[in-house]
Amino acid sequence: MAYETILVDKRDKVALVTLNRPKALNALNTQLMKELVTALTALDTDDSIAAIVVTGSEKAFAAGADIKEMQGKSYADMYREDFFSEWEGLVRVRKPIIAAVAGYALGGGCELAMMCDFIIAGDNAKFGQPEITLGVIPGMGGSQRLTRFVGKSKAMDMCLTGRMMDAAEAERSGLVSRVVPAANLVDEAIKAAEKIASFSLPSVIMAKDVVNRAYETTLAEGLRLERRMFHSLFAFEDQKEGMAAFAEKRAANFKNR
Ligand code: HXC
Repeated sequence: MAYETILVDKRDKVALVTLNRPKALNALNTQLMKELVTALTALDTDDSIAAIVVTGSEKAFAAGADIKEMQGKSYADMYREDFFSEWEGLVRVRKPIIAAVAGYALGGGCELAMMCDFIIAGDNAKFGQPEITLGVIPGMGGSQRLTRFVGKSKAMDMCLTGRMMDAAEAERSGLVSRVVPAANLVDEAIKAAEKIASFSLPSVIMAKDVVNRAYETTLAEGLRLERRMFHSLFAFEDQKEGMAAFAEKRAANFKNR
């Protein structure tokens, strides 16, 4: 499919998806959202792909939902369209998605990054939930996911004052997994994705699944699920291969079986 607002580049087992509305700092309009969800869903079922990187430009990952598109909408429009509910398609993707964030990740941009599995930030990244400055509040998970990432005090600060957090603060507070020089950001994210793609895909998908369950369930249930999934991986040839490779001091050759 031909996309107008994103670029999709397949590099061996890794797909690089680049948000591409540079003139609007990658503001997330309906078309971009539809294209991104369509592309990620297609990559999820593409057997040649094992991990995905989503990035923007060096100036902006995404400066938020498209304010100019939202501006004139009524409550009835928002409710009828269930505005932004389609983003939920993104969290149904089973393969890992790394957000590589340089520049602004504001409002829906910060929320999109948080919907990915982890965030690698360029040292020029700036995160924020500035919706309050527009007379609204976060609508794609900012109040919920940000609070789980950074805790109540900082999430309140961000959502109530609309201030931005730089990359160092974002790393300090657990919003991002690592910070790298902005110039190397995409390469570093692709390297991390290649590393993930070198492992057995069923174990990768299960690892993603169980970590995500930690946010949705009790500790006892989460531990139970983790143990059961761990057991189930012994039904795969790749468990035998991975452990044999260790014992034989050689690299594993995983077949996703
Ligand atoms: C539409 C946007 C935009 C946005 C930037 N642009 N952000 N258009 N929606 N979110 C456009 C500008 O209008 C401008 O277009 C061009 O991109 C360049 O932006 P500038 O403002 O000129 O750049 P700069 O001075 O460098 O400032 C960068 C910025 C600022 C600090 C990121 O653009 C900004 O504050 N943007 C809005 C951030 C924001 O409030 N995001 C939250 C959105 S609400 P022209 O045509 O003038 O060149 C949201 C809700 C999510 O995300 C939940 C929904 C349910």
